[in-house]
Amino acid sequence: MAKRTISPGGTIDGAVELPGDKSISHRYAILAALAEGASEISNYASAADCHSTLECFRQMGIEIEEKEARVRISGKGLHGLSGPRRTLDAENSGSTMRMLAGVLAGQPFSSTLTGDESLRRRPMRRVIEPLRQMGAEIRCQDGDRAPLEIQGGNLRGIDYTPPTPSAQVKSAILLAGLFADRPSTVRESVCTRDHTEIALREFGATIDSIDGTRGSVRIQPGPKLTARKLNVPGDLSTAVFLIGAALILPESSLMLRSVGLNPTRARVLDFFISIGAPVHVASIQSRDGELAGDVSVRHAPMKGGKIAGTHVAEMIDELPMLAALGPFAEEGIEIHDAAELRVKESDRIAALAEGLRQMGARVEEFPDGLRVEGRAAGKLHGAKIDPHGDHRIAMALSVAALGAEGDTIIRDAECVGVSFPEFFATLDRLRGGDAS
Ligand code: S3P
Repeated sequence: MAKRTISPGGTIDGAVELPGDKSISHRYAILAALAEGASEISNYASAADCHSTLECFRQMGIEIEEKEARVRISGKGLHGLSGPRRTLDAENSGSTMRMLAGVLAGQPFSSTLTGDESLRRRPMRRVIEPLRQMGAEIRCQDGDRAPLEIQGGNLRGIDYTPPTPSAQVKSAILLAGLFADRPSTVRESVCTRDHTEIALREFGATIDSIDGTRGSVRIQPGPKLTARKLNVPGDLSTAVFLIGAALILPESSLMLRSVGLNPTRARVLDFFISIGAPVHVASIQSRDGELAGDVSVRHAPMKGGKIAGTHVAEMIDELPMLAALGPFAEEGIEIHDAAELRVKESDRIAALAEGLRQMGARVEEFPDGLRVEGRAAGKLHGAKIDPHGDHRIAMALSVAALGAEGDTIIRDAECVGVSFPEFFATLDRLRGGDAS
């Protein structure tokens, strides 16, 4: 598989418009398929994960046309999906598998959902458990793993508090709740990303916050969902890799246009500011219920800091990049309460510790996080890196490699396509084409 050589140095300079947000794209695709009529989605994510979602709906009889980042989905209404003739393949996408499990739990047919090797290793009990409580029959491997065989239909509404904060689990229950006999409630101690709630409202469902807390929501079953024209804002979780590059490379100045700024996702910007990064946000607008704006950043010395507690769930996808900034920050970066990172596309704690150590960083690994020593531990050097097939590990370590001495080789570098196929090309362009 393709490797990529990263030569260090250069400067990030310029403006970029990023591909659409991965989380929002999944949700728009799912709800457009369940709505009546043709929805048009612009700036749909180029991420392979979001194309896995589209492919699954094609298998269930939904007509989908794609023209670059524009996707037209001819929804057939809440009860319009047909039983798939083949196993549905979520490939590398946890969001596809967990959220589709919710939709499939509500269908009167049986279906099987599988994924690639990485996804078949990831925990699914968290979604199986509440869906079984709602009445779906689900068979899986070893009590916790895909493939999932789902016989849906006749669901009961439930009141559920997920043991681990997870937007995917919350979304699966809310989507299944569309097909239930009474309202369903999900209660969260940390308000995870709320794109599903926002998108459900946009398509015409009734969903309310209860108990006056944003973390508890109730969905009413049986709405008529109506086709929409929607635009997906740029992906902030993707933007973070470019922001990281600008913070590592001296004299950098970067402008990211029209990036999603949903408050349940934007905590990472506060963290950047808290460690001394001059991040500025301008031209904030609300569109289709989601906030978006322009984010700019300049190179500056970073202080470093700690991430723990509720901030972990709020920045879960950004932690690999933040950890990889450790060697460039005065006090390094320390992460705790993040055992969840071990069950992402790879064991991200182990993969980060391994890769950063190979580059010469001093790293202490904990069961629930890691500490990456700061600048005083010395400069990174080039190394041969195995990203373990994980897009965010490949991008985080590629960015760290920009500030190392000597070239770094990233094996299987094409795995970045899971969320940001244009990553290397964008980095090259922003560095004036002088990257490898
Ligand atoms: C996502 C939720 C997060 C995140 C994932 C996308 C989503 O997972 O890590 O990349 O779109 O809902 P969990 O909420 O399950 O932790």
